[in-house]
Amino acid sequence: MRKNFDFLVIGSGIAGLSFALKVADFGKVCIVTKAEAKETATLYAQGGIAAVMYTPDTYEKHIRDTMIAGDDLNDPNIVRITITESTDRIKDLLKWGVTFDKTKSGKFDLGREGGHSEYRVLHHRDNTGKEIQNVLLHEALKHPNIYLLEHHFAVELITQHHLGEVVTSSRDDIECYGAYVMNVKTNVVDTILARLTILATGGIGNVYATTTNPPVATGDGIAMVYRAKGVIENMEFIQFHPTALYNPKEKPNFLITEALRGFGAILKTVEGESFMQKYDERESLAPRDIVARAIDTEMKISGSDYVYLDCRHLNKNELISNFPTIYAKCLSIGIDITTSMIPVVPASHYICGGVKVDEYGRSSIKNLYAIGECASTGLHGANRLASNSLLESLVFAHRAAMDANEIFMQNEFKENIPEWSDEGTVLNEEMILITQSIKDLQTVMSSYVGIVRSNLRLKRALDRLEILYKETEDLFKKSILSQDICELRNLISVAYLIIKMAMKRKESRGLHFSLDYPRIEDKSENYNSVV
Ligand code: FAD
Ligand code: SIN
Repeated sequence: MRKNFDFLVIGSGIAGLSFALKVADFGKVCIVTKAEAKETATLYAQGGIAAVMYTPDTYEKHIRDTMIAGDDLNDPNIVRITITESTDRIKDLLKWGVTFDKTKSGKFDLGREGGHSEYRVLHHRDNTGKEIQNVLLHEALKHPNIYLLEHHFAVELITQHHLGEVVTSSRDDIECYGAYVMNVKTNVVDTILARLTILATGGIGNVYATTTNPPVATGDGIAMVYRAKGVIENMEFIQFHPTALYNPKEKPNFLITEALRGFGAILKTVEGESFMQKYDERESLAPRDIVARAIDTEMKISGSDYVYLDCRHLNKNELISNFPTIYAKCLSIGIDITTSMIPVVPASHYICGGVKVDEYGRSSIKNLYAIGECASTGLHGANRLASNSLLESLVFAHRAAMDANEIFMQNEFKENIPEWSDEGTVLNEEMILITQSIKDLQTVMSSYVGIVRSNLRLKRALDRLEILYKETEDLFKKSILSQDICELRNLISVAYLIIKMAMKRKESRGLHFSLDYPRIEDKSENYNSVV
């Protein structure tokens, strides 16, 4: 079936919903989302959202912290835009009805996380994302111009390629006309045409075996743009969160927020010794790349599968009231965090790169925006400062919406787009072919393209990926479309982009650490000697 909308938004997290709310008074919006609308990374965000609210904090301090964390690979103009617009975007959230914790004096109770020189993280206890997701979704569902299609999976962006033209990455006139979208309950593929298409498809965590990301994070948006010959960048910068709960039976890994370290929790070895002083003077609150590498190293030294996070010295009542979700979660698996240490392990958490966009979220493909985690705005550089991603999503959703509202009526709906064709394909009756390939892919990526990399490991990963790619393309061509095969294909494309960009980077920088290009100031002898 063919459907026409002014705006097609793919994804229902903070980026997609806040964009939709800002354009819906002007045109018809369709949001497609591949699971239930609330199932997003946004829902699971714990620590909060960084913004400059009061003195002694200043925009300049937040800008400096962001640049330091990003190892100066950030785009200074984008950093300045994002931080100086932070206060206004928080006001938007408040206007929509989001509430943040306050102190007795009525000011926001600001938290602090790794790499921040000031207390500036607004939070709603330890479940900030849930508060934001629920409020934005509630607002979106109320709006008469927003049509929400749950369990609808975007398969492919529609471009001139679908009109029979040859589209290569050297063309600078590629246009997006909408997307082919599959209803995953019926497997019917609709042609959704739009004046403007907005990718808000989130992250890629499931490329790795351990991740804090929900199952929806399979890099679909990035892979679709790559296939459509758009520009992708900075994919080598994968952030591993240092402290995911070590609970091998559970997937995704439950996050133990960095705010807990901001509150005073200390990282310790399995023998109960603190170790961060060996790696960085900021100790447990050093930026994430440093902390994750230090933990990885300590795990290799001790041969253990985890290290500990110790909260036992903290005020019991305050601990429970500030971190009720973590307290309850740990208790549910037999760990009372007020009396026992929490076993933690690094897990893939966030991708700094993605679809290259400009300061209005415009991708290299005309009429296609990318916002939120799937976009590469230049804010994060080589490493994201904690709690800057919810902020980035809001700022660029706003900027994209302002731009989109100005221009969308100039675009006509494209004629002659063919319907999706399944001709010549049959139902794949062997799910094992897909599930095993996903496991193989995740093992390769975790073993060879994780926190510590080398030329040899990357080459080995690429060789293994080649086999998975060929087998999957072969299966894809023969099979009736399904969400699983599409996601596997997308994960493989994303893995390929990560490896290729990591191979190109002949230095250790931010989140990309290579044994072949050590840096003196990284105290790299600590990492070299044990890997
Ligand atoms: P998401 O919220 O992930 O939404 C993506 C949407 O796209 C989903 O609706 C998904 O179903 C949909 N989608 C994907 N592919 C398709 C497709 N093919 N077709 C249709 N729909 C599709 N950041 C902070 O700033 N502060 C924090 O405290 C924080 N804590 C975090 C804790 C956890 C456990 C995790 C995982 C992340 C955390 N982050 C945090 C990062 C932050 O949550 C994400 O970067 C941010 O929420 C991304 O928002 P988004 O709208 O881009 O994507
Ligand atoms: C956390 O709460 O530790 C996650 C914050 C983030 O990813 O920005």
